Amino acid sequence: MSKTYSRSRFDETIEKVAKSLELRPGTEEDIEDLKKSIMSKIEDMGYEAVAVGSSARGTYLPEKIDVDIFFYLPGETPREDLERIGLEVGNKALSEYSPETHYAEHPYVKAEIGKIDVEIVPCYKIKDKITSAVDRSPLHHRYLIERLDEDKKKEIKLLKKFLRNMNCYGAKEEVQGFSGFLCELLVLKYGSFKAVLESALKWKRGKVIDLEEHGEISFKDPLVVIDPVDPERNAAAAVSEEKLGRFMVNSKKFLEEPTTENYENSITINKNLLRNKNLLLITIPYPKDTVSEIAWSQLRKMNDDLVKTLQEKEFEVYRSVHWADEKKNTCILLDLRNTKLPKYQKHRGPPFYLKDHLNKFTEENEEVFVEGNRVYSWRKREEKEVEQAVKNFLQDTKRIPSRYKEQTEEAEVTTNLKKILKKKEVVKEYLRP
Ligand code: CTP
Ligand code: MG
Repeated sequence: MSKTYSRSRFDETIEKVAKSLELRPGTEEDIEDLKKSIMSKIEDMGYEAVAVGSSARGTYLPEKIDVDIFFYLPGETPREDLERIGLEVGNKALSEYSPETHYAEHPYVKAEIGKIDVEIVPCYKIKDKITSAVDRSPLHHRYLIERLDEDKKKEIKLLKKFLRNMNCYGAKEEVQGFSGFLCELLVLKYGSFKAVLESALKWKRGKVIDLEEHGEISFKDPLVVIDPVDPERNAAAAVSEEKLGRFMVNSKKFLEEPTTENYENSITINKNLLRNKNLLLITIPYPKDTVSEIAWSQLRKMNDDLVKTLQEKEFEVYRSVHWADEKKNTCILLDLRNTKLPKYQKHRGPPFYLKDHLNKFTEENEEVFVEGNRVYSWRKREEKEVEQAVKNFLQDTKRIPSRYKEQTEEAEVTTNLKKILKKKEVVKEYLRP
């Protein structure tokens, strides 16, 4: 389809967005001061510190500022010592800001200072081989800082925000989308936000982007962006096919009609449309004291198991989405073809040529009939109402992932549209293109 918008309309829209992404006066200086003071504390303890990540490169969004500070330990330091020293140094450097320990590939210390998150991470100083996932970050920083100018930084922020608006920003389990680093690489490759979108429309499954032309290892992921500092790693490995699709579909929409609404991925909730559907919402209290990665991956698993169970019971699930606010609620929303099923269920028997099996089947079943080369019978259905089937699933604790076993006792199941509409985030997730 030809593009019907004028160039200026696209530019006008993104200019407006770019303005909203500018920092409030003084913010940059505050970040700089904070960075320096924490880095000098680490250096006073005898370690070399480096600022990495988006706040060191000026590619962060004003709504979520995190300062990533790494410090080096010699390559021969044993892993346990790296972890222990990492926590000691981090806790000391952040002692006045109530630091917390977090767990990624290895533990690190984090503190919230006003609106800024500060993370202190130990890593090995690389000579030849990357031994821990975080060792790459300083190399990424060195690679990018040499190649990004102010103009590219602006384009990166536009891409990050565009992805964030459609819940495709971030490599974490709950998002399975585009990391900040990946956004930086894409803009570097294609030159601008717009060029990334235009190219994305042409991507085929397994598209490979290889900035440094390393080109040796092949990956099976839907999108492959070879990490320029580590050719053995796909920097886009976290991107799920669904999130890739969402990005491509929304890119097309925005390029064809570059309005602020399309950039923001605004969702209008059409009640009439929803009223004519068979929706069912399950609300479960968010699991306590659980790392968010685990809460989300178990939620996804529970969602998949539930859908499988319902399909086996002949309830056809058109779509299902889930959401967690990471504080109070976890939701699963189902869009069903049917909420009620007939009293009897068709039960498949053996081929009628197998005499022993046939005898057994006719002894055990009434109303036997033949269809094709088999016998069938009618059986009374155990669960005729989908609400009941869902409740039974939630009570079957063997099937519920560990973190949700207790929580599902307090689960609420409803088909009431008014109640469903109150859980806006999950409804939006359902309605997104
Ligand atoms: N990193 C990476 N792959 C990821 C996550 C992180 O390579 N999936 C590395 C990158 O070098 C990144 C650094 O870790 O720059 C810090 O990660 P993070 O704070 O999550 O991302 P930022 O790039 O800083 O982006 P932002 O904080 O703005 O989301
Ligand atoms: Mg960061």
